Amino acid sequence: MGQTLENHAALVIDRVRPGTPADSALREYMAANRTLGAVGRRSVSRVVFTYFRWVNWLDRGQSLQKRVLAAAALQARFDKDPSSVKLEALASRAVPSWLAGEMDLPAAYLRKLQQEPSLWIRAKAEALMAAARDLGSCERPRLPASLAAPERLSALRYLGPDDLHKSAGFKSGAFEIQDLSSQLVGHACDPKPGETWWDACAGEGGKSLHLSDLMRNKGLLWATDRSVRRLAVLKKRAARAGMFNYRTEAWTGIVPAPFRTPCDGVLLDAPCSGVGTWQRNPHARWTTSIDDVRELTAVQGVLLGNAARSVKVGGRLVYAVCTLTRSETTGVADSFQEGHSNFEPAPIPVSAGGAARLHLLPQEVDGNGMFVAAWRRVR
Ligand SMILES: C[S@@+](CC[C@H](N)C(=O)[O-])C[C@H]1O[C@@H](n2cnc3c(N)ncnc32)[C@H](O)[C@@H]1O
Repeated sequence: MGQTLENHAALVIDRVRPGTPADSALREYMAANRTLGAVGRRSVSRVVFTYFRWVNWLDRGQSLQKRVLAAAALQARFDKDPSSVKLEALASRAVPSWLAGEMDLPAAYLRKLQQEPSLWIRAKAEALMAAARDLGSCERPRLPASLAAPERLSALRYLGPDDLHKSAGFKSGAFEIQDLSSQLVGHACDPKPGETWWDACAGEGGKSLHLSDLMRNKGLLWATDRSVRRLAVLKKRAARAGMFNYRTEAWTGIVPAPFRTPCDGVLLDAPCSGVGTWQRNPHARWTTSIDDVRELTAVQGVLLGNAARSVKVGGRLVYAVCTLTRSETTGVADSFQEGHSNFEPAPIPVSAGGAARLHLLPQEVDGNGMFVAAWRRVR
């Protein structure tokens, strides 16, 4: 399969252009080449992402096939011995130059970025042992000392070769594919059965499903998003997971909530530059700019201010982004705090020291890079 695999990958890469990022090109290619099979699809995706991880080391004078092979060789060498690639080279070639102005780039972070990401599943709390048994090759997460493992953490790292979307457990809603850091955001919200929560940027419902599970399907979860198409996917996923305690509405973010219920808690999982997902999707390193960061920072501030209006006195507000840029993380949290003296920083249950802000770093958590901040409304 060796050469064929590289040819497939080169054909995908050839489709990548402005407006067609690597993940879209992969989806289109897979749809047109259904005979590849689950293992083939995963292998091609892996080779394509390896290419974009090492793209700045490759000789542009070579054919695409040769560059794809060279990237695979670089990855194999790096996996065997991470010190084989100099740190200065990682800092200048693995990430765009603007990133250094927005976050620290320690060696462990840069090295983690060049590794393949882990695949995490979130089992329904009571189905964890069954999921582990059915899937076989899985392991529990090992969290760093700065984090307190939530009591109901039901994450498993999948190590096997199968397409989990086709497994009986996935089809029956016994588990979801969800990054470990995203799961920790659900636990940072810590919703209780019977409460009313608002997942303001619910998208396709990754975190809504988790919040509902933590609420044991009791109480009310408002799931809103600007994209009605994404909310339609959420509804399908909710049906599969047996989630009933929710309602969906479109919400553009520039107005208050489309409902009047005061909430015990609001999660704003805001649109962001996605820097925290760059291990999983290396092509995004080369399509995201500092202008995107600036634009999104402004949007996040507006959304957070509007989301906060629905928190009842005594209720919790949680801000989460899958990025680590200063502007979109502490920058947004600081400006919100300055303008909202009726909110006080609140301890995040996932933080071992009870901090009100949390940086989930890929090199520590083995998941996406994420930032979480929490407040309690005091008046
Ligand atoms: C980080 S994603 C949410 C992911 C989702 N919470 C999950 O866990 O699967 C951000 C979401 O914000 C939505 N969004 C972007 N701009 C928005 C706006 N102005 N108002 C409301 N939602 C917006 C996007 O459609 C996207 O679904």
